[in-house]
Amino acid sequence: MKRIVRKRSDQAGMLTFRQPQFFLESVKLERFKAAFRPEPLSLSPFTVIIGRNGSGKSTVLEALQWLDLAMRQDAVRACERYSGIHDLLNIRSRGENTRYFKLVLNWKTGSRNSHKGSKARYELRVNESLDGRPLIHSESLIVKGSDQIEVPIIETEKEGDRSSPGRRLLLPRDEDRKRIFDEPDRLALSRLAGGAGDNSLPHATLEAIRSFWERAVFLRLSPQRLAQGSLPKRRSFDPLLDEEGQTLPALLNELTPKQQEALVEAMNIALPDVRKVVVSETNSSREQNVYWGIREKMPTGYAGKGSYEIPASMLSEGTRRLTAILALLIRRPPPSLLCIEEIENGLDPWTVLDVLDRLQAAPRRATQAILTSHSPWLLDNVELDAIRLVRRTGGNTRYSVFRTESAVKRFLSSVPPGARYVNLMDLEK
Ligand SMILES: Nc1ncnc2c1ncn2[C@@H]1O[C@H](COP(=O)(O)OP(=O)(O)OP(=O)(O)O)[C@@H](O)[C@H]1O
Ligand SMILES: [Mg+2]
Repeated sequence: MKRIVRKRSDQAGMLTFRQPQFFLESVKLERFKAAFRPEPLSLSPFTVIIGRNGSGKSTVLEALQWLDLAMRQDAVRACERYSGIHDLLNIRSRGENTRYFKLVLNWKTGSRNSHKGSKARYELRVNESLDGRPLIHSESLIVKGSDQIEVPIIETEKEGDRSSPGRRLLLPRDEDRKRIFDEPDRLALSRLAGGAGDNSLPHATLEAIRSFWERAVFLRLSPQRLAQGSLPKRRSFDPLLDEEGQTLPALLNELTPKQQEALVEAMNIALPDVRKVVVSETNSSREQNVYWGIREKMPTGYAGKGSYEIPASMLSEGTRRLTAILALLIRRPPPSLLCIEEIENGLDPWTVLDVLDRLQAAPRRATQAILTSHSPWLLDNVELDAIRLVRRTGGNTRYSVFRTESAVKRFLSSVPPGARYVNLMDLEK
């Protein structure tokens, strides 16, 4: 198939976003779902995670989403998807006296940031309490500027045990703002706010991390949910879009008229007949669901109009998914982190390529993208450096950088990544 090269305009509504940006450099999981104690997974501003069914791809995104939910609400809510922390903890830790999981995240600032070259390291350990609830055992956040001096932002003063939470100290070196935090299922990280107008490294970092979680989005889009309608406005703790896409009407309502035009223009690459994306009007009550749809070109003469509105429930599944992804990429400020499960689902090969192009360009607009995929075709169209491989053998999940695998290196440079992946997995079967 011939690759379509398209000139992308930076039209209004798609202008480059210049806020300080943080990128996740690596994630280390311990005792979280499939991951017992794998080596850290390194990430790039654009990453595609591949691997066989049941290898541990979603485990990585779920760990990040666990943090996201705990930041927005609390640890109990973050464990709800697993009916509690018990099943979430890696089974190999059963029988240990204290059961827990641990996450370590490393961020780095992008080059446009005033605090260029600074880094942040966050560590969290969550215990399973005696009555089966998640209890924060310890938490730390350390930032390091380009001068290499480390500044602690969160420290654990007293580590928790199976019946009590760890006591944490916020801003331990700042006599005026130092604070003790010992809520059992809340993250100290969610309680920090950067000092207004304070551009010192600790406060700029806090602001950047707070903004990172506020704009993190995790998607495993569901065509059914995408058509169910939602409240017209997001609640303050909601993400820009929920994982199944139900709150798409609220996201569309946030777009400016210029951004709505940019959305139609972007959709027209795959769907040339789209004229407008519309959200139903609200009546006086803001408690009622609103619905979205698309105004499409129809043969003139139809009902006296040149276009007709089609509700989301009648739109094709690919159209629903595409609208959600493009709306997120066009919104300003954009998502900080955009994680999409099995990105190729429901999209034709040309649409996949277009979406992929946009996601690969997203880091330039301050959006880090992490995708999972099962498609060798998609891999053929991404940089080898962006690919991470997950393997699970004998109940042990491991993460690696695809390019550095010796079998991957042995291929001629003309062999595309997708073909290398299929061959490698064939050999390991
Ligand atoms: N608590 C646990 N302890 C150990 N292993 C677990 C635990 N929970 C799930 N697993 C195993 O981890 C596997 C990997 O899950 P994950 O959802 O990360 O896979 P995946 O790579 O996303 O697969 P798919 O491509 O099918 O979506 C599960 O299929 C299951 O075998
Ligand atoms: Mg999965």
